[in-house]
Amino acid sequence: MEQRAMAPGCGVEIVGIQLAEAEGETLDAIRQATYRHGVAVFRDQRFTPEQHIAFARRWGGIDINNYFPLTDAHPEIAVVRKAENQTTNIGGGWHTDHSYDQVPAMGSVLVARTLPPKGGDTLWAHMGAAYDSLPKEMKERLEGMTAFHTADHIYAPDGLYAQTDQGSELRGQEMKTGATHPVVIRHPQTGRKLLYVNPGFTIHFTGQTREESLPLLQELFAHAMLPEHQCRVEWKDGTVAIWDNRTTWHLAVNDYHGHAREMHRITLTGEALAA
Ligand code: SIN
Repeated sequence: MEQRAMAPGCGVEIVGIQLAEAEGETLDAIRQATYRHGVAVFRDQRFTPEQHIAFARRWGGIDINNYFPLTDAHPEIAVVRKAENQTTNIGGGWHTDHSYDQVPAMGSVLVARTLPPKGGDTLWAHMGAAYDSLPKEMKERLEGMTAFHTADHIYAPDGLYAQTDQGSELRGQEMKTGATHPVVIRHPQTGRKLLYVNPGFTIHFTGQTREESLPLLQELFAHAMLPEHQCRVEWKDGTVAIWDNRTTWHLAVNDYHGHAREMHRITLTGEALAA
């Protein structure tokens, strides 16, 4: 198994293995690479839905997503779909999955099932690289701060998706979410400091209103999404990506109107986060 960095601050491509067979030391090496680089990409995988589920179970627990359509045959798999006649995609803005949960999901295993002829890439941004490159004064300012996260403005009956052509596909619109996390967390496995606020779900800092929080939130968001913290995956048949939600944000590029794109996502169980 060989590891090739995708960009200086983010992402690794792992070659020479089939995920369907990965276990033991190989699986542990994949875990460590994912924690460290934020996202690990694998090409030319033969990975049926059953093998996808079995791999996620070998990694650890599976969190069933509350919002995305599930397949009848495999309820563990959330379908991330844009049909050829839809204009809105899922995950088209920078976000960290499940930061609105008190115990956020560790990450996801995403498999390309239907791809447009061109486009539909996914971007990730590494929050360890983002934290490291903050000025010393900003790091000191963030010390001890916490922030509130929710998904209600996105998925509620009058939320963002309900106003788009994705609204009718989603489930869980009546759910209420909300969690408070440190603004800077330590990665539970590597101990690295990570910036843990994101444009999708972070609403305000504890003890501040949304309006009071916005200037600093926007400054942190603009810094975190700098190109030097990012990497990009161009999907091909057989591509699988595994990412760490604590270490990264991600964004699905919506540049393939008139074509369908369907991905299968399994969300991996995480642990409570601490500063
Ligand atoms: C997501 O999980 O946010 C979607 C990622 C993608 O479709 O590339």
